[in-house]
Amino acid sequence: MSDTSMRAIVQHALGGPDVLLVAEIPRPEPLPTEVRVKVYAAGINPVDWKTRVGEGMAGELGAPPFILGWDVSGVVEKVGFGVTTLKEGDEVYGMPWFPRAAGAYAEYVTAPARQFARKPTSITHEQAAGVPLAALTAWQALVDTAQIRAGQRVLIHAAAGGVGHLAIQFAKHLGAYVIGTARAAGHGWLTEIGADELIDYTAVRFEDAVADVDIVIDLVGDHYDDTSTRSLDVLRPGGLLVAVPAGVSPELAAAAEAKGMRVSPFLVEPDGPALTSIGELIDSGSVAVEVEEVFPLEQAAAAHARGESNRTRGKLVLRVVS
Ligand SMILES: NC(=O)c1ccc[n+]([C@@H]2O[C@H](COP(=O)([O-])OP(=O)(O)OC[C@H]3O[C@@H](n4cnc5c(N)ncnc54)[C@H](OP(=O)(O)O)[C@@H]3O)[C@@H](O)[C@H]2O)c1
Repeated sequence: MSDTSMRAIVQHALGGPDVLLVAEIPRPEPLPTEVRVKVYAAGINPVDWKTRVGEGMAGELGAPPFILGWDVSGVVEKVGFGVTTLKEGDEVYGMPWFPRAAGAYAEYVTAPARQFARKPTSITHEQAAGVPLAALTAWQALVDTAQIRAGQRVLIHAAAGGVGHLAIQFAKHLGAYVIGTARAAGHGWLTEIGADELIDYTAVRFEDAVADVDIVIDLVGDHYDDTSTRSLDVLRPGGLLVAVPAGVSPELAAAAEAKGMRVSPFLVEPDGPALTSIGELIDSGSVAVEVEEVFPLEQAAAAHARGESNRTRGKLVLRVVS
């Protein structure tokens, strides 16, 4: 490989995991205010496999060929004109460009310097790559959208997943009473990281097991088993449902209005300063990221197949530098 090229996972067609192929392509150059980051590890998120098949952010990325991935942990290797907050050699993490393409499944990424933050020093690049998109989702949904306050009762669906396990910890840190839905196998771990109460959604209907909730962070949606619509039944009057996976359908909006509840759609945004705050929580030991498995970059297809099983505990990550 020359010093102007790089390895990346490029897809030339929409489709199953086998469209994810290793290719050698030109290294991107940073424009003014941008940095080029040498990617040590790239996080995987459900939006990646949704986009791979033509859903998710496929509209924003346009027709293939494109490079998937938004979550990056790595080292600043080149700075563009005007960048004064980062320098060569700085360890950073981020979720740049979302929902435009970031091309994180690659050896180098260029993006605006301020969409990155210093990588938490207490964790590896592989752990840090699992943080940005999931943690920003959990943080922005709880803090910015729901404006969570100490003492509130919060229900987090899919508590064992990438977003859920971080949402549990943030909500606990912010003083809430934290309830989660997860299979029984995850209950021990989720209790250790801060859940006050857990519901095995495979054994009971959650609306029969919990009530008087102020905020629902719904990470499942109506797609499988009407989780969003059923969540309206656990809220206090005026309570808020944040519908994370697929927004608010007209039917859900009407059901919420009829019951006197509030619903909000949600889309995560790049946010360097929030990642700095999140990194401080990680380095102080208040929050931990769980990485279930790390795959080599060239095994991106296997990593997607694993993620699509919808059983991931915490995060899946691609190792780019060994
Ligand atoms: N709008 C946005 O900005 C945004 C941002 C981030 C994520 N999202 C979306 O939010 C969803 C969650 O993302 P993620 O990264 O957390 O996914 P993930 O890590 O792949 O979630 C996997 C987890 O989901 C749990 N799960 C599956 N079905 C469930 C159900 N019916 N009830 C409760 N838990 C269930 C599983 O736990 P068990 O083993 O306990 O079953 C597993 O641990 C995805 O649809 C993603 O696309 C949207």
